[in-house]
Amino acid sequence: MAEVRIENLHKAFGDSVAVQDLSLAVADGEFLTLLGPSGCGKTTTLRCIAGLERQSSGDIRIGHRVVNNLPPGERDVAMVFQLYALYPHLTAYENMAFPLRTQKVPKAEVDERVREAAGLLSIEHLLSRKPGKLSGGEQQRVALGRAMVRRPQVFLMDEPLTNLDPRLRTEMRVEIKRLQRTLRTTMVYVTHDQTEALSMSQRIAVMNRGVLQQVGSPLDVYNRPATLFVASAIGSPPMNLIDCELVEGEQPVLCDRTGRFEYHLPPPQHHKLETHPARQQLVYGIRPEDIQIQPGGEREGLPSEVRAREALGDGTVYDLQVGEKIFKAKTPPALRLGVGERVRLVFNPSRSHVFAAKTGAAIF
Ligand SMILES: Nc1ncnc2c1ncn2[C@@H]1O[C@H](COP(=O)(O)OP(=O)(O)OP(=O)(O)O)[C@@H](O)[C@H]1O
Ligand SMILES: [Mg+2]
Repeated sequence: MAEVRIENLHKAFGDSVAVQDLSLAVADGEFLTLLGPSGCGKTTTLRCIAGLERQSSGDIRIGHRVVNNLPPGERDVAMVFQLYALYPHLTAYENMAFPLRTQKVPKAEVDERVREAAGLLSIEHLLSRKPGKLSGGEQQRVALGRAMVRRPQVFLMDEPLTNLDPRLRTEMRVEIKRLQRTLRTTMVYVTHDQTEALSMSQRIAVMNRGVLQQVGSPLDVYNRPATLFVASAIGSPPMNLIDCELVEGEQPVLCDRTGRFEYHLPPPQHHKLETHPARQQLVYGIRPEDIQIQPGGEREGLPSEVRAREALGDGTVYDLQVGEKIFKAKTPPALRLGVGERVRLVFNPSRSHVFAAKTGAAIF
């Protein structure tokens, strides 16, 4: 168990930069997830921590040691990949024992550690089988067991659940989290699946194109996205975003190009925008669950028309047109609206976000 500290990590492959000036500290025993789209540099970051890739510049510390020049075997980390990479000719037991045998751990201790890991993973009954006779989920448990028996200071997991079917994936999410809590091993977990990140992590580090966008608890990144990228990457359906500008007047508003979208700014929000250099190029954002739909006859709210309806069981998502923009709103199942119906939309001010369009940085 140890802290992992990444300082100004930079990794380029030829001309292409995979990771750019990344600084990130993962606390001892913490579960931190790297989240971001394909190609954003998650695997590269993990491989640099593991020592499988040499960084172009920057430092990596594990515990009190700078590990920049240490080979993978001396970093005391265990990595689990998307592809389980079990040895097909070895039994589950021998697959798990393998890393200990190469370290010349005494036989009795190997046996004890393999059986302990198998117990935690509930795979004692599978130990004599070869990978070919195990399901995907069982193979992944063996792969986790192989990482666990080494009792490393740090687990590094790169999309370990991607190859599993949805039900197993949900099960293994809970399992991995439980194991990490029990063992208290520092975890750096990589995924591009936001549900996985939100449900498993203590903190999430969101990356885009090699650049760290935000680090925070799942609630932080959901409720207070620091950039437009984070706002649109987390949440399903994603946050509604609309280009707009500040229009001053007795009642200051944000207005889109068509003039049909208007958001009345409460004084504290107006105050944050009135002298802001980006006030003519803003993006207003609101999550689908933070839009309230009122009957068309009400006086309050933005006039809109229902364009489509998608029933989800635990609620309904409506497509609602305002000017040129379609807003998505998520409502409880009790509300039933027909396509073409005229309604009014009320946007919860305390759940409203505004970003600078050019930089993508959140203003509030
Ligand atoms: N060995 C390599 N040689 C050249 N370019 C590479 C190499 N490995 C990665 N890259 C590039 O670095 C960037 C980051 O890749 P990386 O594998 O870290 O992304 P990722 O976030 O793990 O994506 P995915 O979700 O698809 O696994 C990509 O543009 C990729 O093409
Ligand atoms: Mg990857």
